[in-house]
Amino acid sequence: MSRNIDQMNLDELRERVRECRECELCRTRSNTVFGEGSRCPPVMFIGEGPGHYEDQSGRPFVGRAGKLLDQMIEEMGLAREEVFIGNIVKCRPPDNRNPSDEEAQNCLPYLRRQIVLLKPRFLILLGAVPLQFMLGLKGITKLHGNFYEYMEIPTMATYHPSYLLRVNSRKREAWEDLQKIMRWMRQ
Ligand code: URA
Repeated sequence: MSRNIDQMNLDELRERVRECRECELCRTRSNTVFGEGSRCPPVMFIGEGPGHYEDQSGRPFVGRAGKLLDQMIEEMGLAREEVFIGNIVKCRPPDNRNPSDEEAQNCLPYLRRQIVLLKPRFLILLGAVPLQFMLGLKGITKLHGNFYEYMEIPTMATYHPSYLLRVNSRKREAWEDLQKIMRWMRQ
């Protein structure tokens, strides 16, 4: 990275991300997707990376999965504007493939700086991709609902809303994960 992002505030970081050419994903993106939400969020959700609608709009989780994420947030008794929604990579991987290890590692310093600046009380990892790249763990079906820490922040992985759209029967487990988090937040 040419300039030290650890000194940047959120607006400077957003600008840095907008101009980023650290990996090949910059060639095929329409827009970077920095993430959005409260600057003082109780909870930060972290997905994989932008899809088609996110790439077009520059906003996270605005497609079908986003509608379900909105419901999940509501189910927690929160509003979308109260939380922060980000992703492992800020540019759309072509054909919505998973980000490669190199792409994720290149992009993670941005997410880490976002976490330092936003100071969420809780991190919710959406699916296998953030579970792998942030916690170094594989096996979302076994590991969802467990409490971990990332950068000393309590963290839990649950199912990605896109997966829940395909596999309706897992919704109940995801809802239970979210309730567990809310119980933890209230204590
Ligand atoms: N899926 C993700 O993981 N992130 C988005 O922003 C949209 C869909």
